[in-house]
Amino acid sequence: MKQILILGAQGQLGMELQSIFRDAGRVIPYGRAKCDLSDLQSIRATIREARPDVILNAAAYTAVDRAESEPELAMRINGEAPGTLAEEARKINALLVHYSTDYVFDGLKTKPYVEDDPVRPLNVYGATKLAGERNIQQTGGRSLIFRTSWVFSPHGQNFLRTMLRFGQDRDQLRVVNDQKGAPTSAREVAAATRRVIESTAEHKPECATGIYHMTCAGETTWFGFAQAIFAKMHAEKPWASLTGIPSSEYAAPATRPANSVLSNERLKADFDVELPSWETALDGAVQTLSIQNSRAL
Ligand SMILES: NC(=O)c1ccc[n+]([C@@H]2O[C@H](COP(=O)([O-])OP(=O)(O)OC[C@H]3O[C@@H](n4cnc5c(N)ncnc54)[C@H](OP(=O)(O)O)[C@@H]3O)[C@@H](O)[C@H]2O)c1
Repeated sequence: MKQILILGAQGQLGMELQSIFRDAGRVIPYGRAKCDLSDLQSIRATIREARPDVILNAAAYTAVDRAESEPELAMRINGEAPGTLAEEARKINALLVHYSTDYVFDGLKTKPYVEDDPVRPLNVYGATKLAGERNIQQTGGRSLIFRTSWVFSPHGQNFLRTMLRFGQDRDQLRVVNDQKGAPTSAREVAAATRRVIESTAEHKPECATGIYHMTCAGETTWFGFAQAIFAKMHAEKPWASLTGIPSSEYAAPATRPANSVLSNERLKADFDVELPSWETALDGAVQTLSIQNSRAL
């Protein structure tokens, strides 16, 4: 039976990976307490002890704004740790699956970004994630790097949950309307990851290494995403009214790209894997939230 080690198991993606891979082998779900990615020795000890066949690394320093004031810690977790994971994976011929971000790009392109487009991160988080990609690739083992974007889920900290909270607590909300991207459901990323791994093992061993974009289909702005979230909710109390604003009116420590829509064509061509539209995926997350809420009543 395959041993599947999931790092960052309590994060949005980690939780969905646990659920999607539960019958794919023996799943070892490790959170920060079991394997701290800021401690490179802890990573080596974990891999040597668990000896997994597949490592799914969903752990990352994801606080985009805080990273501006903690660049060293963010670099250790997002930049150095993936390189150490890749070295240990190579020693035991394990497949390393790692996740990266749309924020490796500068947002100046007007069309969706493809994998080989030049990278130029605008913020510390993006720079550290890019370093992680490069460190994995330089190691030369078997690795799949999936760049995703604007991740949401019924669990954890994300835009969907923030909007649901603010939508009921506040009368007015101002949301950025000049950054374009693809909201992507953690569940769909987990499901696509499983399909790719199975397809790699069975039909495409030659594709078992590389960078792939993996986002939900379609695009919108944060404002458009907020509107769609509000439209799906049926609440007794009226929701906050939404106003679209330019990024220049929203003071955030980290600069974000104006366009970070990713093309998923390589994923489709190599593995015949496609994610649904972000609207369809949002329906799924909202439905899960409604079920959770009705159970809590
Ligand atoms: N969220 C997005 O919008 C987005 C967009 C593009 C790409 N991605 C990428 O997608 C992947 C999954 O992100 P996500 O949205 O699931 O993030 P998340 O919900 O923030 O989860 C990240 C997980 O990493 C863990 N972690 C943080 N520091 C750690 C450390 N030093 N050692 C071990 N674990 C640590 C966190 O644990 P604690 O709870 O203990 O902090 C958390 O469980 C990441 O690679 C991220 O960079 C995310």
